Amino acid sequence: MKAADYVDVQFGAIDRRIFWDPAIYERELEQIFARSWLFVAHESQVAEPGAFVTTYMGQDSVIVARGDSGAINVFLNSCPHRGNRVCFADSGQSRAFTCNYHGWAFGLDGGLKKMPKMGLYKSTPGFRMEDWGLKAARVAEYKGLVFATFDPDAPSLDDYLGDFRWYLDAVLDAEEGGTEFLPGGATRSVMNCNWKFPADNFVGDIYHALWTHLGGAEPTLGRHGGVIVDNEGSYQVSVNGHGWEFNDSFLGNAATMGDRELLRYMKSRQDKIAARLGDFRMKMWGSVASATVFPNFSFLPGYFTFRTFQPKGPTKTEIHAWTLVPKTMPDDIKDRFRRGSMRTFSPSGMLEMDDGENWEHSTSANAGFVTRNQKLCYAMAPVAEQVEEGLPGHVTRGQLSDANQRYFYKRWAEFMDAKSWSDIPLAPRTRVPEAAE
Ligand code: FES
Ligand SMILES: [Fe+2]
Repeated sequence: MKAADYVDVQFGAIDRRIFWDPAIYERELEQIFARSWLFVAHESQVAEPGAFVTTYMGQDSVIVARGDSGAINVFLNSCPHRGNRVCFADSGQSRAFTCNYHGWAFGLDGGLKKMPKMGLYKSTPGFRMEDWGLKAARVAEYKGLVFATFDPDAPSLDDYLGDFRWYLDAVLDAEEGGTEFLPGGATRSVMNCNWKFPADNFVGDIYHALWTHLGGAEPTLGRHGGVIVDNEGSYQVSVNGHGWEFNDSFLGNAATMGDRELLRYMKSRQDKIAARLGDFRMKMWGSVASATVFPNFSFLPGYFTFRTFQPKGPTKTEIHAWTLVPKTMPDDIKDRFRRGSMRTFSPSGMLEMDDGENWEHSTSANAGFVTRNQKLCYAMAPVAEQVEEGLPGHVTRGQLSDANQRYFYKRWAEFMDAKSWSDIPLAPRTRVPEAAE
């Protein structure tokens, strides 16, 4: 059976087995996670030569390290000698990475530098030090976000993101001087859910906010949050399976953090951001919105929480989350963002806990044999191929819909069934010029 048979994206019916089947999960590791450009770090996390973080690409543990030349390197965190994990720290500063087991030492580019009794290896015909480094990935950046892929045939990151970059600029380029992740590392939590439930929630499920988050949003925003139900100003945009839904409300999400000082500050930036990005993207900066970069990198404008949904098995996901801010933001306001995003979208945040419970039950229900053979309904509103003047990608405007989720699962099926990258269509780029890889 082809993956495309599991997802009826035209009508909007999705086979539940894609959320629990171990064989499908194993195939996702190969077809999606070993192929895609995956977010691995913000460049501010590895600002100096020798700075490193560890993370995951699919279930592959990787080290992201800034080398002496200033280039950012990404390589497997598993020793090619007997396979031991090389680095156990989440982040740090190092000159080299030395394996605990027999002492093989690797440089900041992952290359094998030395080991005890090196002469015994060098005397073996055919042994070359350069063949036994930590396997390196391709690395590319977009405005501070560092992505990597293990697929030598993947298109450039610019092609992979395509015109989605034009939308990404609403959070990455709103202020001069670039962005950073607030220092202090990530919050990490584990949810017993399939990784696609959170990814599809962020790609286009504003619908749940009206119900799931009402208890949390009402005290801060009033009934229905006022802006959330404004259909006229609601948009869903999708490019290459990446999706962003938003309501052109400027401060909608930010308002739920309940910090007037923070909102005053954001308001004071409104004209400057409009001058830089135009009125439309200015409104996306803090609006009621959420987005996913395919497959598992998501963020919420307004709270500026950025997170990866790391797959840990068909029914387990580890969430790593950070807060992104413009570098030029005053320290006091950065701190207010830290507290605001923790209050709302952290493992103990009043909004994130609501989501997690839903995704866990959506997953665990599939333990039942009859249940797991039913379909899920993604049929809200027909997908209209709208062309919105000035807006790149597939645009659905003025209504709640499952459009972005359907594009997400369409992309999922394209990856799952593709023999090579030539089977995976890429939308032409029209907006943002090429950046160097
Ligand atoms: S397993 Fe790493 S040095 Fe032996
Ligand atoms: Fe939510």
